[in-house]
Amino acid sequence: MHVIALANQKGGVGKTTTAVNLAGELARRKQRVLIIDCDPQGNATTSLGIAKRDLKATTYDVLMGLSHAEEVVLPTGRSGYDIIPASEHLAGAMVELTAVEEREWQLAQALRPLEEMYDWILLDCPPSLGLLTLNALCAASHVLIPLQCEYLALEGLAQLKGTIDRVREHLNSRLSIIGVVMTMYDGRTNLAQQVVEEVRRHFPHRIFNTLIPRSVRVSEAPSYGQLIFEYDPQSRAAQSYNALADEVLRRLVEKGSA
Ligand SMILES: Nc1ncnc2c1ncn2[C@@H]1O[C@H](COP(=O)(O)OP(=O)(O)OP(=O)(O)O)[C@@H](O)[C@H]1O
Ligand SMILES: [Mg+2]
Repeated sequence: MHVIALANQKGGVGKTTTAVNLAGELARRKQRVLIIDCDPQGNATTSLGIAKRDLKATTYDVLMGLSHAEEVVLPTGRSGYDIIPASEHLAGAMVELTAVEEREWQLAQALRPLEEMYDWILLDCPPSLGLLTLNALCAASHVLIPLQCEYLALEGLAQLKGTIDRVREHLNSRLSIIGVVMTMYDGRTNLAQQVVEEVRRHFPHRIFNTLIPRSVRVSEAPSYGQLIFEYDPQSRAAQSYNALADEVLRRLVEKGSA
């Protein structure tokens, strides 16, 4: 089982969009996929068409040891694609966990019983490097970093890399960065091309070849509870998430760990 944390403390860079759509592409390849919404905003939950007010148990209950992870799993209505949803309750976990021993390991421990059930677990992190993201990094085998194609995209990346390095050194030695994916790419602007080139210089081996284009269709899909593949399968954005899934699979196979 591969556990991939989608992390970037910058807000609105495409973590959730990438998490739900990449999970969808993996599920279409007959992989068993679970997405865990680790963000009190619950955007992954809503994007998949799940109403937050109806939830009986969420990631909060899993983190606090109140429910077993397998009891909190919900189907998303797609074959091989489940979710552990989140709601604003999760914000409380950050405070309440502070007093718990081994607080950064709560998620990792809770996920152990799921190992036989899924091929992939994708962790949609909140826009911070707090305890929720730390739990995700301790539970993960890989980090996937979405980066928006904009000025200052690299700002904050050093801090994120520093956090990942510290987690690897002190907490989770198996953690590695699977790649950086550039999102909201607009090839018509020089700026977007320059940002991609700059990121390529910094991370020649890590940046994915696939660029996720900026597309209104991508931002519309969640309001229908749909993935981009369902909402507009012919779109370039749908094709790009398909290509990203291929690259993710290839990278793990090349590493000999898939
Ligand atoms: N390729 C794209 N083209 C156009 N809009 C996009 C694209 N990807 C994401 N968006 C939109 O940008 C906004 C932010 O995306 P998303 O929620 O995935 O980012 P995030 O990093 O998860 O945000 P947060 O940090 O708040 O969790 C959303 O409104 C989303 O619909
Ligand atoms: Mg998000």
